[in-house]
Amino acid sequence: MKWILQCLMLLCFGDVALSHFQIPGVPIVVLPEYTAYGIKNVTRKGTEAFLYLGLPYVKPPVRFEKPEPLTVTPLSFLKPKNATQWKPACHQVVDVYPSAITSEDCLYLNIFTPTKVGLKNLPVFVFIHGGGYSYGYTQAYGYEYFVDNFISQNIIMVTLQYRLAHFGFFATRDHVINGNFAHFDQLEALKYIKRNIKAFGGDPNKITLSGHSAGSTSTHALSLSPKTKDLYNQEIHIAGSNYALWGIASEMVFNHSELIGTQVGCAQANTLERKKCLQKVDYKKFWEARVELGLPDFVPDKFDMLYWTSNFDNDFFGGKTLDELQAAAPKRRAMYGVDFGEGLLESIITDNPITNVFSKSRGAYTYENRTLANAEKIRGVLLQMLTDPKFNSTTENVIVDRIFAYYNIGIGANATDPLHYWYKLTEVRHTHT
Ligand SMILES: *[C@@H]1O[C@H](CO)[C@@H](O)[C@H](O)[C@H]1NC(C)=O
Ligand SMILES: *[C@@H]1O[C@H](CO)[C@@H](O)[C@H](O)[C@H]1NC(C)=O
Ligand SMILES: *[C@@H]1O[C@H](CO)[C@@H](O)[C@H](O)[C@H]1NC(C)=O
Ligand SMILES: *[C@@H]1O[C@H](CO)[C@@H](O)[C@H](O)[C@H]1NC(C)=O
Ligand SMILES: *[C@@H]1O[C@H](CO)[C@@H](O)[C@H](O)[C@H]1NC(C)=O
Ligand SMILES: *[C@@H]1O[C@H](CO)[C@@H](O)[C@H](O)[C@H]1NC(C)=O
Repeated sequence: MKWILQCLMLLCFGDVALSHFQIPGVPIVVLPEYTAYGIKNVTRKGTEAFLYLGLPYVKPPVRFEKPEPLTVTPLSFLKPKNATQWKPACHQVVDVYPSAITSEDCLYLNIFTPTKVGLKNLPVFVFIHGGGYSYGYTQAYGYEYFVDNFISQNIIMVTLQYRLAHFGFFATRDHVINGNFAHFDQLEALKYIKRNIKAFGGDPNKITLSGHSAGSTSTHALSLSPKTKDLYNQEIHIAGSNYALWGIASEMVFNHSELIGTQVGCAQANTLERKKCLQKVDYKKFWEARVELGLPDFVPDKFDMLYWTSNFDNDFFGGKTLDELQAAAPKRRAMYGVDFGEGLLESIITDNPITNVFSKSRGAYTYENRTLANAEKIRGVLLQMLTDPKFNSTTENVIVDRIFAYYNIGIGANATDPLHYWYKLTEVRHTHT
């Protein structure tokens, strides 16, 4: 049936073969789950790409349950899916991206492909965003950088969202609420990619998994789970390992979940009852609970610990220790490194007035007004925020110079591309090994 439709389309529009074709200007991909209508886009640097934005890879999730695969019927491929707009972010810490529209219905991924489809299936690069498991979303990374640097080299890009903070990691000690929901989301995304990427012109046997920061610990977690065995081929870990204290911290997660659960009014001794109660709580209450308890979103003054992170469960991690998992993990080609932007991201969770100032200035620029940023304006924001009376104007300028130099935004006053500052967020090209 699928093939009949495709053949008809091919006869009518006679463009590119297989399930990846276009009617003038509209790229179309037929999947068993739905037919995705994307958009053609040209970056500021002139690279052409097809963008498929906001593709659902599972059903909208049920809070504190693992994600469910999409329903496939013989006719579901006919369902049109308008893949021209970014989907909402997952609910998250608000002070980093204050203007992000968030929802519990946030399990979507984006695929960027070249516009010329050749005979050979292309390698695929999957990128998992960072954000300390508590913030981040794919629109914040956009598509320009990926398109300019990967699509131009005939690599297909996938960026994906996963549940964050409370909704990604909440867990009870007995695993009636299992936690690790974020990783189950990522796992389902990998299954979707493995199953469907061929229709986008990708090679399902040439998938590189990667991510930075919490996206890197996620990459590591996925590499350790027996569930991902045949889902991808090689991996790049950019600044994040589960050997770090914040990687998998079961006790922290159990304690913190109990504390927050009690604060939102669900302290039932029976964890099944507690779960039912928690599933009915308005999502805002989870964040309000933090304020009521006087708790920041990140553990104060500690770079090496998170409130919300993975736990050693019997499901995703199969009840094994880190060393056991590492020993049993399939051998894959791997690259390890850090990225320049990492210090910049870390600066969000420190009380150090200098680095904190920088993270706030970054928050002043949202995706919508990303082209407004330039060195002078960022300087202005930084200076505005250096309100500590112990600094005079000379020292303030010295501090700003040092921040610029330290973060290597330092072409600084000379950067003429307004997106330079935006690109810095997604820069993986400078990975050091
Ligand atoms: C690229 O796509 C975005 C939607 O994300 C759209 O706003 C923009 O106008 C497009 N640019 C071009 C050159 O088509
Ligand atoms: C997809 O959504 C965009 C934005 O809402 C709209 O302009 C466009 O007409 C839609 N396309 C289809 C095929 O529904
Ligand atoms: C978790 O709570 C227990 C009991 O209150 C406490 O002994 C332990 O130190 C806590 N662990 C962490 C990592 O918070
Ligand atoms: C960018 O937009 C946000 C709201 O979306 C606004 O709060 C902020 O002030 C803007 N920043 C600049 C520099 O215009
Ligand atoms: C500013 O502060 C620095 C360091 O405290 C000091 O050396 C310098 O003299 C001050 N400059 C002015 C103009 O007050
Ligand atoms: C930026 O330009 C200024 C003035 O032309 C120059 O002094 C400085 O060295 C330049 N910085 C870099 C990193 O090229």
